[in-house]
Amino acid sequence: MIPIIKPYFGREEEETVLEIMKSGQITRGPWTLKFKEAFKDYIGVSYCHTICSGTAALYIALKAIGISKREDVVIVPALSFMATIDAVYMAGGTPVVIDVDESYTMDINQLAEAVEKYKPKAVIPVHLFGQTAQMDKIKQICKDKNIIILEDAAQAHGAEFRGKKAGSLGDISAFSFYASKNVAMGEGGAILTNNPEIDEKISNWIEFGAHPALNLRITEFQAGIGYWQLRRLEETNEKRRKIAMIYNREFENLPGLVLPQEYPDRKHVFHIYALRHPRRNQIIEKLLQKGIGARVYYDYTLHQLRNAEHLPCEFGELAKDQLFAIPIHASLTDSEVEYIVDTVKEVVKEV
Ligand SMILES: Cc1ncc(COP(=O)(O)O)c(C=O)c1O
Repeated sequence: MIPIIKPYFGREEEETVLEIMKSGQITRGPWTLKFKEAFKDYIGVSYCHTICSGTAALYIALKAIGISKREDVVIVPALSFMATIDAVYMAGGTPVVIDVDESYTMDINQLAEAVEKYKPKAVIPVHLFGQTAQMDKIKQICKDKNIIILEDAAQAHGAEFRGKKAGSLGDISAFSFYASKNVAMGEGGAILTNNPEIDEKISNWIEFGAHPALNLRITEFQAGIGYWQLRRLEETNEKRRKIAMIYNREFENLPGLVLPQEYPDRKHVFHIYALRHPRRNQIIEKLLQKGIGARVYYDYTLHQLRNAEHLPCEFGELAKDQLFAIPIHASLTDSEVEYIVDTVKEVVKEV
């Protein structure tokens, strides 16, 4: 089976894990600091905190910006991994779900409407599948209204909007380093900001002292692996982009298939290569039979999943019934890509 995800590790990751083991310092050591510095510099922000998962990153980010009670409304898009909405509930706030557009990111017309109607305290644009939301428009809508923008950049390491990296585009951002991510540690996450006041609040939630806090640290092993993953990121993202270009070229004229687009001003890092087809379940079944790890991302919308307040989410609801993904990662060989291309072409013509 060609897996849908496979982390890409080299000699450096291997040697670093052994080095950490032999050093005896397996947590709160030099690799955690080194990773933090490198990640902060790469994204282009002033402050970075590592944390045990992307979900914890979203949760602590929400706590740090003051989401704590039911009146604290947070706008989220209909299509994302469930952690995006669950973090809002966990923090104590109320999520309101709005639709996504053809880029699978937040519909900015609905955002304007939701801001008027619900007076949110924060908005969480998700850079879904590896492409950023329309951050200029989102900022414009939130400007002068005291609405905090928390980027969910869990799928967007290295993605850009107008030359600036995802994670540096709002007031605060959350990343995941889960096993499938473009920077993979197994589990892990980060919270980033340029704002010193927000930075201090993040510290107070995850470092013991100022008020009751949580231990959500990563170990040195995770940081060591993450450091080298980050060093490889430009190269592995390029590989993902190259594969996506091959898929887009080869699948261009296949009937019923809607291909992922890279929109102007945005650099897509293809965390997931997401396609749409009205008969996606048959396609997935046939691809699995032929040894290709295809799957659905996501078979739910966030408002339906959690019975949340929402605006009409027609496109998101259509997308969740039609979206599926095929393997895209830096471990794929040329012959695997060729096999995937030939098999997808054959299967889509059959269904
Ligand atoms: C968009 C999005 N947000 C949040 C998360 C949560 O990250 P984690 O799995 O590290 O908790 C994920 C990852 O799975 C994700 O894809």
